[in-house]
Amino acid sequence: MHVLFVTSEAYPVVKTGGLADVSGALPAALRQLGVDVRLLLPGYTCVLDAISTHDTGVVLPLLPDVEAAHVRLGKMPDGETPVYVLDCPSLYRRSGDPYHDEQGLEWPDNHLRFAALSKAAALLASPNIALKLKFQPELIHCNDWQTALTPAYQHYMSSVQRPVLLSIHNMAYQGVFAPKSLPALGLPWESFSVQGLEFYGSVSFLKAGLFYADWLNTVSSTYAQEIQTKDFGYGLQGLLQHRQDHLSGLLNGIDIQQWNPATDKCLFANYDAEDLSGKAENKQALQQQLGLAVEPDAPLLGCITRLTEQKGIDWVVQVLPDILAEGAQFVILGSGDSKLEQALTRLAHAYPQQISVTLGYHETLSHRIEAAADIFLMPSRFEPCGLNQMYSMRYGTLPIVRRTGGLADTVIPVTPAHIDQHTATGFVFESPNAEALLQTVQYALVVYRHKALWRMLQRNAMQRDFSWQHSAQAYFKLYQQLSA
Ligand code: ADP
Ligand code: GLC
Repeated sequence: MHVLFVTSEAYPVVKTGGLADVSGALPAALRQLGVDVRLLLPGYTCVLDAISTHDTGVVLPLLPDVEAAHVRLGKMPDGETPVYVLDCPSLYRRSGDPYHDEQGLEWPDNHLRFAALSKAAALLASPNIALKLKFQPELIHCNDWQTALTPAYQHYMSSVQRPVLLSIHNMAYQGVFAPKSLPALGLPWESFSVQGLEFYGSVSFLKAGLFYADWLNTVSSTYAQEIQTKDFGYGLQGLLQHRQDHLSGLLNGIDIQQWNPATDKCLFANYDAEDLSGKAENKQALQQQLGLAVEPDAPLLGCITRLTEQKGIDWVVQVLPDILAEGAQFVILGSGDSKLEQALTRLAHAYPQQISVTLGYHETLSHRIEAAADIFLMPSRFEPCGLNQMYSMRYGTLPIVRRTGGLADTVIPVTPAHIDQHTATGFVFESPNAEALLQTVQYALVVYRHKALWRMLQRNAMQRDFSWQHSAQAYFKLYQQLSA
């Protein structure tokens, strides 16, 4: 089976969030199962710098006013997964991240940049190009709005149509642009309809994908249900309900090699479920590194996140003084919303011994926080899957999460019954507000003082299997179904 996996980011060559982790790990897991999965990535400067590629000689005319792109081929740093790199310097060779310039503003031509990626995917799967590349995808697996025009382009192409699977990692990002952008995308006006990519008078890339793709998937089964409701569907719940027979929810896994406390090279000390003494060393060293009071018994709460509305960090800001009053410490790594950045920075100044705020993106520090913290905060308003709660459990750091999306599907709440069954792995609250978060943190801090119970919960969490194995098999089955 041959599959083209199209994505706007893939760890370790380009990452802004969980999509990159999935795009790095899932194709590799599928290749282990014998599926010939190849990535298609934009030729961002960082991608061309990170992997060596050669020109395949294939040149693709993509959009009316954009230079033709050269298709390059290389391998991901794992040395296994082939990756086609779409080299189109005017669109992709820039500083900044995949979606924003260095000031954090969205690139004004994002509609062109990601329409080009989608068009390239449709073209790569067409028989004449496939022949030149000696790779004929039987299926195209797209991810999020950045690749969601792929099935729309295919729909209007005369060549053979390949089944398209669209994975929805986040309904909050839809790629909505003014109708006047349509001609530049090279799509006909007839596509601008309710039965197409029109969404309340605008062009919506995600709507196009939801409408034209053969199958829709999202990254947890709870989120697959949630997005069919008004609160989580962002106006697309009707279409999703209409397509519910072609919608599945396959839970993400995590890369258990990269996230393994027993071997992780970023840590100050390694440890495992049998011997957790290294975890205390990590806590002490991180308290020192970040200038916190070095107190082995102070419960350390960690957080690593994009600072957006989604993640509920405004609730954390509201209740932090009350949490600190219980003798806890808090360490956060993240970037995004400037109001949240400022509020966190102010708190760090007010409580220098108890709060550490690092703004920015730091790979090593993220691993160290997972290892050093006792508790991980993830009070998301919505969370399609979420990876950090799984990294946390694997590192014996008990998560506090809101019961939504993939958080609901992965964290087994500490209740008397789950304690008896040795299944509890974290703390779960329901109501979307700061008060509910605070109550749950206070409950967790009480449990933390019962060392033997806490140790049992850590073991439960560390022994859960969050590897890709199970989900990769489910994707393989879905691929087979769709290409049959
Ligand atoms: P989302 O994709 O919504 O941001 P996920 O939990 O699925 O949320 O994935 C986030 C990923 O990005 C995790 O691997 C997390 O460790 C990483 N991450 C987020 N912010 C930072 C940061 N500031 N520095 C390092 N890694 C980060
Ligand atoms: C999105 C979601 C996150 C999910 C990730 C990977 O960014 O916000 O919940 O884990 O995609 O699927």
